[in-house]
Amino acid sequence: MDSFDNATSVLIEPARQADLPEIMAVLKTANMHHIPSPEMPEFDLACAFVARMTGRVVGVAGYKVLSADEAKTTLLAVLPETRRNGIGRKLQERRMDELAALGVRTLTTNADRPDTIVWYENHFGYVRVGTLPKLHSFGLENVSEWTTLETDLTRWRKGL
Ligand SMILES: CC(C)(COP(=O)(O)OP(=O)(O)OC[C@H]1O[C@@H](n2cnc3c(N)ncnc32)[C@H](O)[C@@H]1OP(=O)(O)O)[C@@H](O)C(=O)NCCC(=O)NCCS
Repeated sequence: MDSFDNATSVLIEPARQADLPEIMAVLKTANMHHIPSPEMPEFDLACAFVARMTGRVVGVAGYKVLSADEAKTTLLAVLPETRRNGIGRKLQERRMDELAALGVRTLTTNADRPDTIVWYENHFGYVRVGTLPKLHSFGLENVSEWTTLETDLTRWRKGL
């Protein structure tokens, strides 16, 4: 694995209720703000981390535990002006650490941006396992399906 990390002034913390407006503003920049639907019934703040830079929320990552050994990621977004500084990576690492500590083995992620799919594969041990049709407009407007990826958390931090 490579070792980029320029985001030293960023703190990754559990999300708080008071963060919700800023979280929604971050998600909106990626067309991932809350739309009640079967695809995204609610955003669970108890299972989310925020990236905070000088007090401001610049990124958010969520997850959902599905069973004793399965979980999925829900959302991940970083403000466009702060992307490519390692903040997304810190958020992703934090939720993988959290789930690995809970004993979860298989983590599933749905992604639509080709560069993000490759990012998950290159840095976090994911492999593509299939596709799912999008149920409504969410994420990239011109991509109609999710690419489903899985990673084995028992190998996380052990060299993948
Ligand atoms: C995906 C996303 C969260 C990544 O956030 P990010 O903060 O930009 O992520 P990182 O900075 O950790 O890594 C992104 C890229 O920047 C590069 N990078 C990181 N720090 C860097 C630095 N200091 N200088 C140059 N490049 C850097 C990384 O190498 C990586 O590129 P790579 O895939 O070619 O290796 C962000 O692009 C985003 O919000 N996208 C829209 C929503 C989305 O697709 N979410 C995922 C849904 S599943």
